[in-house]
Amino acid sequence: MGQAQWTEVDEFLDSLLIGEDDVLTEAVTESDRAGLPPIQVSAAQGKLLHLLAKIQGARRVLEIGTLGGYSAIWMARALPEDGHLISLEASAKHAEIASENVARAGLVGTIEIRVGLASESLPQLADERPEPFDMVFIDADKAGYPLYLEWALQLTRPGGLILADNVVRGGAVADELSRDANVRGVRAYLEAVAADPRLEGTVMQTVGIKGYDGLSIARLRD
Ligand code: SAH
Ligand code: DHB
Ligand code: MG
Repeated sequence: MGQAQWTEVDEFLDSLLIGEDDVLTEAVTESDRAGLPPIQVSAAQGKLLHLLAKIQGARRVLEIGTLGGYSAIWMARALPEDGHLISLEASAKHAEIASENVARAGLVGTIEIRVGLASESLPQLADERPEPFDMVFIDADKAGYPLYLEWALQLTRPGGLILADNVVRGGAVADELSRDANVRGVRAYLEAVAADPRLEGTVMQTVGIKGYDGLSIARLRD
């Protein structure tokens, strides 16, 4: 048991439960072709985000870390006609590829990509006093997660969901002595979730095509 089996099962589940989707396939192909790192969520994880947005009845979603727009497309497809997804991305190149993928997906009116460091885009966004978000998906630099959580708390409605990708990191999250900045970032994030009386959170450990990792799910109390 290990990576080969996790990949095989992910492929089986994808063919059974997700199937071919030209828009999503092209989003990945075009991202690869442009040289973006192949670190988007898996299809099964994308569908989980889609389902969580639907279960949440989300109309407004905030994403931190766009890459080629793959996860944004999955989530935006869960939104109603008047839904809106804002995605923050540091790399102008990533944002450009994402915009092309979003256009191919027919989601130009739904997905808004903002280029810049999230540490700068988030206070700018907060200054606009936006209508609160129903769901936030944190998936950018892991060292920034604790800061992104603070902004997410300010921008999310009561009952809102705050999700964070890659918080298990092959099990390294349990290593309290880790010097890895990514591990330290996700540990600090989970400690902040645990310590905040406004939040109820858990982590789902995951295996699959992307290895062994996990998704943090936290809900802002009503
Ligand atoms: N959510 C995407 C994957 C995101 S990968 C998907 O699943 O499809 C992480 C992205 O975060 C990369 O595109 C990277 O450029 C971006 N990023 C890294 N540091 C950032 C920062 N400080 N602010 C905004 N985006 C950042
Ligand atoms: C990396 C980032 C991610 O968001 C991910 O899901 C996998 C890998 C990375 O930076 O290597
Ligand atoms: Mg990720």
